[in-house]
Amino acid sequence: TAQISISSMNFVMGFVTLLGMQIMLSIEETADFAREAIEWCRLFPPFVLGEALIDISVNYLTNEILGSGKDIWHWEVVGRPLQFLAMEAVVYFTILLVLESDKVGALRGALARLYVQLLEKLVDDGDASPTPIAARSYRLGNAHGGVEETKAGAADADDEIDEDVLAEEMEVATASARDFSVYLRGLSKTYAGSLAGVVRHQLGAPLRWARSAKRAPAPEVLKRAVRGVGLGVRRGEVFGLLGINGAGKTTTLSVLTNDVVRTSGAAAVCGFDVDDQGEVRKRVGYCPQIDPIFELMTARETLAFYGRIKGLDPDSVGAAVESILELLDLTLYADMIARSYSGGNKRKLSLGVALIGDPEVLFLDEPSTGMDPGARRSMWSCIEALSRRRKITIILTTHSMEECEALCTRIGIMVGGRLRCLGSSQHLKQRFLHAYEVEFRIEEAAGAPGGAFERFLAARLGPGARVVERHSPHCRVSLPGTAMPLGRIFEAIEAHQEEAGVLEYSVSQGTLEQVFMGFAKRQREERGQVAGVVYEDDDVGESE
Ligand SMILES: Nc1ncnc2c1ncn2[C@@H]1O[C@H](COP(=O)(O)OP(=O)(O)OP(=O)(O)O)[C@@H](O)[C@H]1O
Ligand SMILES: [Mg+2]
Repeated sequence: TAQISISSMNFVMGFVTLLGMQIMLSIEETADFAREAIEWCRLFPPFVLGEALIDISVNYLTNEILGSGKDIWHWEVVGRPLQFLAMEAVVYFTILLVLESDKVGALRGALARLYVQLLEKLVDDGDASPTPIAARSYRLGNAHGGVEETKAGAADADDEIDEDVLAEEMEVATASARDFSVYLRGLSKTYAGSLAGVVRHQLGAPLRWARSAKRAPAPEVLKRAVRGVGLGVRRGEVFGLLGINGAGKTTTLSVLTNDVVRTSGAAAVCGFDVDDQGEVRKRVGYCPQIDPIFELMTARETLAFYGRIKGLDPDSVGAAVESILELLDLTLYADMIARSYSGGNKRKLSLGVALIGDPEVLFLDEPSTGMDPGARRSMWSCIEALSRRRKITIILTTHSMEECEALCTRIGIMVGGRLRCLGSSQHLKQRFLHAYEVEFRIEEAAGAPGGAFERFLAARLGPGARVVERHSPHCRVSLPGTAMPLGRIFEAIEAHQEEAGVLEYSVSQGTLEQVFMGFAKRQREERGQVAGVVYEDDDVGESE
């Protein structure tokens, strides 16, 4: 966008306006206006340059034909334009430095925040950021996800908060940002729509209210990407953020890296507020979802470039680059330009960009997308070593449950911009998967309808036992987790194995993917994207 804007401005000011002014100068009625306007146009360097080139050629021709031209360095030939350009270079560069300074950055952030907060007030769509923790309802699940207690005051099922998420929110609310490597408290990010969208929405408001008492959401005006996330990640922890497309994972990481300005709440990295970019940048490595690499630079050059930006001195940057190339198995491609890389190798290079400069905290946005299984596993061991040996804190987003299980000490699933559950993979399975699955291989005679096996199921495994799949001699049975503990299931089968005609059996718990799909169903807006999910009322974690 910046490149296009600059090219367009150069074209408009250095060519179109310049030509227009020259034409207007030659017409008597507009000449006065043009002379006035030219003074203002000289604020734009491309205009000054174009004007100087014209003056040089006019002066040259006057010299050649009439012999009365001026010296090229004369004030009216290149003297004035050179002085203008020199002054403008100094002034504009100073303005740029001021605009890029942390203080002005914070001010711009504050203004952007104010604008979105104003819009939120204006477009009250009944879907504002969540109520403070204390006022919210929450439900407590027992070990099998059953509801034990529900506090009153829930206006909306969407406002319910999981007990683990609530505990985390409480913890960050009472702790200090310095206690955590990464700290989020009530973090919300709302993207503002275009001004045209706002106007259209406001004009249509009376119409919508007349049509329905329920307020319509206004995605063209406001897109609430992250809504009140509270999270504290401690040093050395590997935290996995899961969620379907559009759940708000990238937005959360972008707030932490200050790529986008948060709307409300607090966000800190290594105890420094994310607005304090001078401090934060030194400590963070970021591998964005879209590769931050330059197509015409080689891996070695790219890493050296980012290394220097991170503040490595020229003597040590070479060694750092070599160690990363080796670590990521990129030595073979180190001197080829990035454009020629495969998708997976580009991804590895992006990971390298995040790793250079010894960061204390790593944000990895879908780092393994496109990597082959071998590369993925070596990335896993690299991440594990970083967190275990060097105590680097890592937050990664992924769509691979396998990756989460392999790496993450804790996992959070985001739905519609909120954290819906939190905990280790084992904890999530225990809380949200209500069923064990038992796979039987049975004798043919026992498996007949009304036979010994069916009688055994009904009598010994309880009324909740349900046959999910059957092709003799195999039979898969689902048992609600609330029916009996794991030990009792084994006991019952072992005791009656022979009379039920069971030849072999295995008991398994569900997978993290099942937990994830259960939550994914909840995301209202992006429903169409969860392929294969059957939407029904009984959601995961809610046995209402
Ligand atoms: N610049 C933007 N302007 C407006 N809306 C945006 C912008 N960036 C993201 N969004 C919206 O915010 C929501 C969250 O987007 P985000 O990129 O954080 O999702 P994600 O969880 O990273 O998804 P994915 O798995 O596809 O990467 C989406 O609905 C998206 O459309
Ligand atoms: Mg994303």
